[in-house]
Amino acid sequence: MLRYLTAGESHGPELVAIIEGLPAGLTVTEEMIGRDLVRRQQGYGRGGRMKIEKDRARIVSGVRWGRTLGSPLGLVVENKDWANWQEKMSADPAHAGSMNAVTRPRPGHADLTGMLKYCHADARNVLERSSARETAARVAVGAVAKALLLELGIKVMGWVTEIGTVAAGGFTGKADILCKKAEASEVRCPDESASWSMIEAIDRAKDAGDSLGGVFEVTVTGCPPGLGSYVQRDRTLDGLLAGAIMSIQAIKGVEVGMGFDAARRPGSQVHDEIFHTSKKGFFRKTNHAGGIEGGMSNGSDIVIRAAMKPIPTLYKPLQSVDIVSRKAFKASVERSDTCAVPAAAVVGEAVAAFVIAQAMAEKFGGDSMTEMKRNFEGYIDYIKNF
Ligand SMILES: Cc1cc2nc3c(=O)[nH]c(=O)nc-3n(C[C@H](O)[C@H](O)[C@H](O)COP(=O)(O)O)c2cc1C
Repeated sequence: MLRYLTAGESHGPELVAIIEGLPAGLTVTEEMIGRDLVRRQQGYGRGGRMKIEKDRARIVSGVRWGRTLGSPLGLVVENKDWANWQEKMSADPAHAGSMNAVTRPRPGHADLTGMLKYCHADARNVLERSSARETAARVAVGAVAKALLLELGIKVMGWVTEIGTVAAGGFTGKADILCKKAEASEVRCPDESASWSMIEAIDRAKDAGDSLGGVFEVTVTGCPPGLGSYVQRDRTLDGLLAGAIMSIQAIKGVEVGMGFDAARRPGSQVHDEIFHTSKKGFFRKTNHAGGIEGGMSNGSDIVIRAAMKPIPTLYKPLQSVDIVSRKAFKASVERSDTCAVPAAAVVGEAVAAFVIAQAMAEKFGGDSMTEMKRNFEGYIDYIKNF
């Protein structure tokens, strides 16, 4: 079973991740992981922290000379600001009280409910872990999953389609080309003219002390048919992907393929008809289903979209109540992102990649990459001749 856990507070010494169940013989380097960590930090609209943190992953176990051993892979991403937080976030009780408690919960964050749930009088004990800083660890984990998938010809790519009210035109090109264009865009959007409008929208929101959300899309190419299952509904690939995407901070909606639009159309405009030729085998001319039917990948590209709410920490303060004085106050901000949809797209790639890697490991087993590839190739041959 392929699984992972992360740990670490936003201003603690480091973020930690352990991935268990990786096949032996997979090529993994710190540089590969570092590339995705940098991609997560980019994007127009990010706040001051991104300038402090230059994330790097350190592999501390499970890899020898660039190849996985089959043992748990341990990863560490240091928080570069730790020097300023050593006492404030110390595990040592001797440093208790070295900073004032945060008693003013911010709307739109885990602060108030987290304090109620875990019986904390200091919102810092909540926000340090609920913060999206945690996504750096998940992006590192996702980079390893992507490396595994790439060896099997599967790519996971994300880009932004909407920011606020600015929507990119419908994309028709190949995923690889869209991805290249997105990499060149400051807002990770493959549509150049929409990118400029998105940047302007972010500037306007920032000037107004406001924030913006948006929509990103993740596409998975090269997936074989048959990942996930219909036999038990908690094994459906769309359910697992939606859960993973929804687990990203600030994601409020997920759709697969045509998604919500399918609800507004008659069936004749929604379902992807099946064709066959001796050369191509079974194929579809459309992909409204977003590559998943009956809880299983059907061999078309998997297409998922996610809606991100606007960043809740606003320079234009929102109303809240101090939990000690019970007095109303306006939540103030030192630094925050105005828009983090481009970064969220990178996190989306990471969590989707891990779900697909899990499904591949489940279907093709694999104590080693050699074994996994052999099983995978055998299945592809079987599908071709079906
Ligand atoms: C990549 C990324 C960066 C984020 N940056 C910020 C930020 O700078 N300030 C902020 O208030 N919220 C930020 N958020 C959103 C909050 O983490 C999120 O809204 C909060 O944890 C509440 O979670 P929920 O909306 O899922 O309930 C960010 C989210 C992501 C995915």
